[in-house]
Amino acid sequence: MIEPVRPLIDPYQRVVRDLRISITDRCNFRCTYCMPTEGMTWLERPELLTFEEITAIARVGVERFGFDGIRLTGGEPTMRAQLPVLISMLSELRDPRTDRPVDLALTTNGATLGLHARALRTAGLRRINISLDTFSPTRFFEMTRRNQLDKVLNGIDAAIDAGFDPIKLNIVAMRGINEDEIIDFATFGRERGITPRFIEYMPLDADNSWSMDQVLPAEEIVETISTRYPCTAVQRGSEPASRYLYDDGKGEFGVIASVTKPFCESCDRIRLTADGKIRTCLFSLEEHDLKSIVRRGGSPDEIAAALEAAVGTKWAGHAIGNVNFLRPKRSMSQIGG
Ligand code: 5AD
Ligand code: SF4
Repeated sequence: MIEPVRPLIDPYQRVVRDLRISITDRCNFRCTYCMPTEGMTWLERPELLTFEEITAIARVGVERFGFDGIRLTGGEPTMRAQLPVLISMLSELRDPRTDRPVDLALTTNGATLGLHARALRTAGLRRINISLDTFSPTRFFEMTRRNQLDKVLNGIDAAIDAGFDPIKLNIVAMRGINEDEIIDFATFGRERGITPRFIEYMPLDADNSWSMDQVLPAEEIVETISTRYPCTAVQRGSEPASRYLYDDGKGEFGVIASVTKPFCESCDRIRLTADGKIRTCLFSLEEHDLKSIVRRGGSPDEIAAALEAAVGTKWAGHAIGNVNFLRPKRSMSQIGG
């Protein structure tokens, strides 16, 4: 018998519909806000979920609980060999009620897109988010500890050529680091038909050096852009970004106020780490193991029950900035952005 689709609802009555899957903890960059310069210990290959295991879990989310979004993250997801194979497996998942394919997206640092964009598009990926924080080569090196700005810019061109739509550009906005480039990003987005999204710097860096005064508040970013390019806020949906449309019709930008205005009350996501643990919040202190269930050939019912149990522990919110706020032990690259 086919189980009916029913929503997965957390203790605060939020419906979970978005699964972020980290497929590797490795990365070819070492962004200061995400990883230490050296000394990362990587997961061993057998610890990673296989493509079949990832798909088995995603299938339960889509077919049992009606999840409509799946995002692949890392580390850097393009570091995982055979990524197009996973993309084609996941792009076949469909909501049984509507037969609509799941909205599949990838977040990447873009450095290898020159090589892989077309293969990813052909495999069935439609949406892509590329991370880029600066247009200055020296600053790029300071922020990522790699000299690959050109590769990322080529990667963006390759993504445009391959026909990804939409393409979003994720910018971690940091006070005193890249705050003078906000307008440049807006201009770049308008010229290329891509959507910049400015993300407030969150305490998920590996070096533990985050402080509130390095956060560039989203409100300030909107103010900066709107003085140059008049724009109007769009009514808010469930997505974390607040969107602004340029009044002259040349596209839009978004801000993600994860620190100054957390979007926890409309959060609809859970995360699966590369080693098969469910995290119900970026800032969770607790993880729920799914790998042992899928690895022993657990049934969809068992996977569904484990997902439900995990979601039953989802918090109301993370309260960064609150005196009681505790940083999670894993940093961003190990959780999946
Ligand atoms: N704060 C905000 N965003 C971060 N990212 C990584 N670390 C942080 C942090 N500490 C972002 C990256 C990328 C996504 C995967 O997460 O820039 O866009
Ligand atoms: Fe790699 Fe992305 Fe982390 Fe930078 S932010 S080190 S590109 S995983």
